[in-house]
Amino acid sequence: MQNITYNFQNKSAIVTGGASGIGFQITKSFLESGAKVSVWDYSDAALAQAKSELSAFASQLHFTKVDVGSRESCAQAAGSVPWAVDILVNNAGITRDKSFAKMTGEEWDAVIGTNLTGLFNVTKSLFEKFNANSSHRRIVNISSVVALYGNFGQTNYVAAKAGVIGLTKTWAKEFARKGFTVNAIAPGFIRTAMTQAMPKEALEQMAARVPAQRLGETEDIANAVLFLASEQASYINGHTLSVDAGLVIG
Ligand SMILES: NC(=O)c1ccc[n+]([C@@H]2O[C@H](COP(=O)([O-])OP(=O)(O)OC[C@H]3O[C@@H](n4cnc5c(N)ncnc54)[C@H](O)[C@@H]3O)[C@@H](O)[C@H]2O)c1
Repeated sequence: MQNITYNFQNKSAIVTGGASGIGFQITKSFLESGAKVSVWDYSDAALAQAKSELSAFASQLHFTKVDVGSRESCAQAAGSVPWAVDILVNNAGITRDKSFAKMTGEEWDAVIGTNLTGLFNVTKSLFEKFNANSSHRRIVNISSVVALYGNFGQTNYVAAKAGVIGLTKTWAKEFARKGFTVNAIAPGFIRTAMTQAMPKEALEQMAARVPAQRLGETEDIANAVLFLASEQASYINGHTLSVDAGLVIG
């Protein structure tokens, strides 16, 4: 796929969950566009793999092991970022799918803790680290198509991702005067470890529901993130952009 090219020279981004899947591609696309990137992830294996795959960009990169679900961990990570921040992509997320009847309190807490409280923790820890001299401040939050229509077996995930859309609109109103735009992306079904962990049959059924009859690629989401993070998107604020090949229109 031909990626859209942007110029993010002299900009720096933080990408949570940036060591694999969608986050890895967002990291790579920012690096290719000239940005410095701080990758926040809790997986040692994913961090090591990303470091090796992105070695050509070593001078633009910073890696931090952090659990976005922990306030202490986020505060520590924020202290280690070597530069002022222009762009934050809240991407880290997990699933613990079960029907409501079978879902445990731990599964609810884990998903809300990472996918919703994680955004609070990360953004709170970084708010004062944003570049004071820049009017180009961007936050892009990764929600999900299922936040817009619900999904069997995902009470915890849908609640968290719908919460992400709500806090995006609130931050858009609160932060605009400080030079921020805050937007969300609602990806459809994207080919990553998260979807590959699903049974093959369920994946095929999902793909069949997409008007384009196929899953999306990580580049589809990264392209949308870079657009919303760009200078050119400065008048888009509080929006949730569906990137799902028409899945949400049913
Ligand atoms: N793949 C899809 O179809 C799809 C669809 C809609 C939304 N999303 C969302 O996109 C985002 C990325 O999903 P993905 O498919 O790339 O997932 P993935 O599992 O491939 O990657 C997620 C990354 O986040 C990291 N991570 C998870 N919990 C963390 C924590 N507590 N602290 C720090 N890092 C953590 C993981 O180590 C991993 O590197 C998630 O928010 C997900 O909910 C994905």
